[in-house]
Amino acid sequence: MMVGARALRGAVALAAAALLAACGSDSGNTGGGGGGGGGQPAALEGRGEITFVSGKDTSGNMQKLIDKWNTDHPTEKVRIVELPESADGQRQQMVQNAQIKSDAYTVLNLDVVWTAEFAANRWVVELPQDQFDLDNYLKPAVDTAKYRDKLYALPVYGDGGLLYYRKDLLDQAGLQPPKTWTELIAACQKVRGLPGTENMGCYAGQFEKYEGLTVNFAEAVQSAGGTIVNEDGTPAVNSSQAKTGLDTLVQGFKTGAIPQQAITFKEEEGRRAFQAGQLLFHRQWPYQWALANKTDGSSQVVGKFDVAPLPGVNGPGSSSLGGHNFAISAFAKNKATALDFIKYFSNEDNQRSNLLATSQAPTRTKLYEDSELVQKFPYLPTLKASIEGAKPRPKAVKYGDVTAAIQENAYAALTGTKSADQALSDLQKKLEELTKQ
Ligand code: GLC
Repeated sequence: MMVGARALRGAVALAAAALLAACGSDSGNTGGGGGGGGGQPAALEGRGEITFVSGKDTSGNMQKLIDKWNTDHPTEKVRIVELPESADGQRQQMVQNAQIKSDAYTVLNLDVVWTAEFAANRWVVELPQDQFDLDNYLKPAVDTAKYRDKLYALPVYGDGGLLYYRKDLLDQAGLQPPKTWTELIAACQKVRGLPGTENMGCYAGQFEKYEGLTVNFAEAVQSAGGTIVNEDGTPAVNSSQAKTGLDTLVQGFKTGAIPQQAITFKEEEGRRAFQAGQLLFHRQWPYQWALANKTDGSSQVVGKFDVAPLPGVNGPGSSSLGGHNFAISAFAKNKATALDFIKYFSNEDNQRSNLLATSQAPTRTKLYEDSELVQKFPYLPTLKASIEGAKPRPKAVKYGDVTAAIQENAYAALTGTKSADQALSDLQKKLEELTKQ
C-alpha cells in the first residue's frame, strides 16, 4: 500500500517535471519543482554504509581519500560505484537509478550542468547551506550547485579549460603562446618548419559526440562573442558571432590544423595524443597537468609544456564552466553519513592533498593563493582566471535534450554533413522548441 502511494506521488512529480521548461536563468524562473517550499531543508537522517557514485577515476586518488574515511568510520564505510568515463554515460545511469527510485546510489558525483535537472525532478535532496563554509569557495562553482537559490550539492572539483602548449617548441620557434585563433594557426605553421615536427597535429579538443563537444562548441561560440542562450534563457545561437566561432572548428578540420582523428577524441584520447608528443596545442582540463608530467614513462612531454588561456577571435577566449558537485540521492538510506562524507571529501586538507596528487582544480579559493601550491603548480593563477571568467552552459531542467541537440548539430557541422549555417539554424529551432515545452 505504502509503496503504491509513494510510486503514484512519484509519477505525478515526474509528469509535472516533464512539463517544465527546458532552459532557465540562474534563478530558475522557468523551472519548477525542487524548491521545497521555503524554510529549512528536511533533516538528513540515518547512519551506516553508503555508496559514492562517480565517473571513472582517471586520477587514481579517489580511492585513497575513501580508504582514509573508511579507516576512521568502520560502521559507515563508503564503497565506490564507478560509472563510465564519459559524462553522458554517467548521467544516463544516474537518471535511470533515480527513475526507479533505487537506494543503490547514495552520494552522486554530479557534473555541474546537471543540478537543475536533478533538483527539479527531486532526485537529490536540498542540503543545509548553513552547515557549509560556502564563502570560502569560488563563487561560480557555488552557483552551479544551486537551483532556485537553494543548495543541492557541494562543489568539490572545479574545472576550467586551458590551452596546453608545447613550450619547448614555441621557444625554439621564438614564439609566445597564442592569444587568438589566427596566432595559433600561424604558430603551428612556424613550428612545423622545425625539424621532426612535420607530422605533428596543430590543435585538438574534445570533438566526439558527447558532453565534451558541447563544451568545445560553447567555447568556440563564446570566444567569438556569441552565446548559445541569452541570460534570460532564450536561445540565441543563430548569430554571426556563433557562426564565426563554429567556423574556426569547421575550418580547423577542413585544413587539417585539427587532425581528423580528433573527431573521436574525448578527454582521455586527446590526453594520450598530447602525451605521445602528437599535438602542439591541446584544449584540456587541469587534470592533464599531473598525468602529462608523470615520470613513469607514460608521457613523452614531461616538463616540455605549459598552459595559457584559451584563444579567441580578437583576443583571449573563455572557458565553459566545468566541474563536479557532490549531491545526495533522494532515494538513499543513511543520508546523515552521506552529508558528513561530502563535508569530509571537500575539506581544505583533502582538497589540498587532492590537488597535490592529481592537479585537479580545487573549489576552495584559498588554495589558489597558497604560495607553496602556486610554486608547484604555476598554472594555478591562469586556472583561477579561467574558472572565474568561464561561462556556464545552458541551465536546463531538460539538460539531456539541450545538450543532445547541441552535440548533434555541432557534430554534423564538424563532419561536413551540414553547413555551419544550417547547423546553427537547426539548433536554434530545436532549442526554441525545447524552451517552449
Ligand atoms: C569535465 C568537466 C565537466 C564537463 C566534462 C565534459 O568532467 O568537469 O563539467 O561536462 O568534462 O566532458
